[in-house]
Amino acid sequence: MIKIAPSLLAADYLKLGDEIQRMADAGADWLHFDVMDGSFVPNMSFGYGVAAAAAKCALPVDAHLMIINPEKYIDAFAKAGSRIITVHAEATVHLHRALQQIRAAGCKAGVALNPATSPKCLRYVMGDFDLALVMTVNPGFGGQKLIPGCVRKIAEIRRMLDEAGCDAIIEVDGGVNTQTAPMLMEAGATMLVAGSALYGAPDAKAFIDTIRGQYAKIGG
Ligand code: DX5
Ligand code: ZN
Repeated sequence: MIKIAPSLLAADYLKLGDEIQRMADAGADWLHFDVMDGSFVPNMSFGYGVAAAAAKCALPVDAHLMIINPEKYIDAFAKAGSRIITVHAEATVHLHRALQQIRAAGCKAGVALNPATSPKCLRYVMGDFDLALVMTVNPGFGGQKLIPGCVRKIAEIRRMLDEAGCDAIIEVDGGVNTQTAPMLMEAGATMLVAGSALYGAPDAKAFIDTIRGQYAKIGG
């Protein structure tokens, strides 16, 4: 089944607890938690305190670290209760070490790739990650339009994982909505992050059900 991770970046910050519960009630699987340092990306977002509070809510926290040198912060996000921690391949010179550190902290390990980054960097860490996060917008902001050229990268990663016999999740982040979801799932995505389209939908459950229906039609 396709998994859906609402991005808290698009929520109403004055009522975060309710905004998380609303997504859990709508049938979401994980809570996507965007962490930005104002340096790797030109924006800032949430820190450990909000991560720890979110971890007490109904969904597993999927921390997407858009931070330079993420090694410095992995243990603290694990301590704050994040269940999945994803680092950007571009943000660390020691990707393998960072992935090991995430697993040693008891979390699932993810590698994120910016739109211009080749999926080849996954080849030599195959088996060391549980999730590949394909950015389909330039990271830093919600509400952007999906970059169509990124879709074939999903298919390329799908092939790489299948050839290696690796069952890692392919998570796609950026510009996901009910129009773009079918091509992403066809290309091999198994988890979709949705921010502005999902939080802005009049009926979050209908949005998630629509995507699940589209996935069933594709034969997933
Ligand atoms: C962007 C973040 C995304 C963002 C997605 O840097 O990584 O998770 O919240 O937002 P939408 O779904 O609005 O593109
Ligand atoms: Zn994200």
